[in-house]
Amino acid sequence: MAIVVDPDWWKTLFDEVYLITDARSVCDDVLTCREADVICELLPLDFGHKILDLCGGHGRHTLELYKRGFTNCTLLDYSQKLIDVAETKANENDYSVNFIQCDARSTDLPGGSFDHVIIMGNSLGYIQAPGADSKIIKEAYRILRSGGRLLVDVTDGSVVKNSFNPNSWQVKWIVPGKISLSCVSQQFDYFCLLSENLESYLIGFITALKGWLNRVCENI
Ligand SMILES: C[S@@+](CC[C@H](N)C(=O)[O-])C[C@H]1O[C@@H](n2cnc3c(N)ncnc32)[C@H](O)[C@@H]1O
Repeated sequence: MAIVVDPDWWKTLFDEVYLITDARSVCDDVLTCREADVICELLPLDFGHKILDLCGGHGRHTLELYKRGFTNCTLLDYSQKLIDVAETKANENDYSVNFIQCDARSTDLPGGSFDHVIIMGNSLGYIQAPGADSKIIKEAYRILRSGGRLLVDVTDGSVVKNSFNPNSWQVKWIVPGKISLSCVSQQFDYFCLLSENLESYLIGFITALKGWLNRVCENI
């Protein structure tokens, strides 16, 4: 039995549930600060530079860079829900950031218009269509000015393979009304649930279970 997965699954994946299931990596301010430190170390950033946070999600890097004085930032993402989260935070802080909702493979941004493009937090590899990632990279190249820099942050697959424990379980904490459960196993691949209330816990759980069922059924 095979469950057919919509090839455009990534278009609806990144929403408020993702901000719960992936909170450990994308809602950790300390981690984001450290990543922003690395951006600042690797790129020859100038306060006047135009920076494009391509596939920037809910804007954690854009907002941190803005806070550090790099105020010419544009955040582009496909997910309007994540852009809304970023925009709300920007407004709360009085940050003037440009937000663009579109597919990173083909933007309407003028060629040569950015000093730096950053693609952070493993944002490639979601699209099944052949050549999708190289289209995103080519688009970044087109948007960059001559001599501009592209920074791509992706996990080192060989490190993950070597350090992966296929059967580890981890329960972080459980208190009434707040449940946090992380699981890594051969069967489940990966999911992490973190909830403030039962409803969002259930939404996270069902999302994780659906993903797991799809993967298991593909192998039957
Ligand atoms: C894992 S999240 C990382 C988000 C952000 N860079 C971070 O580090 O928090 C991947 C993001 O890439 C975006 N994305 C993936 N493919 C995209 C595409 N073709 N066009 C625009 N956004 C895309 C998703 O919407 C999602 O917000």
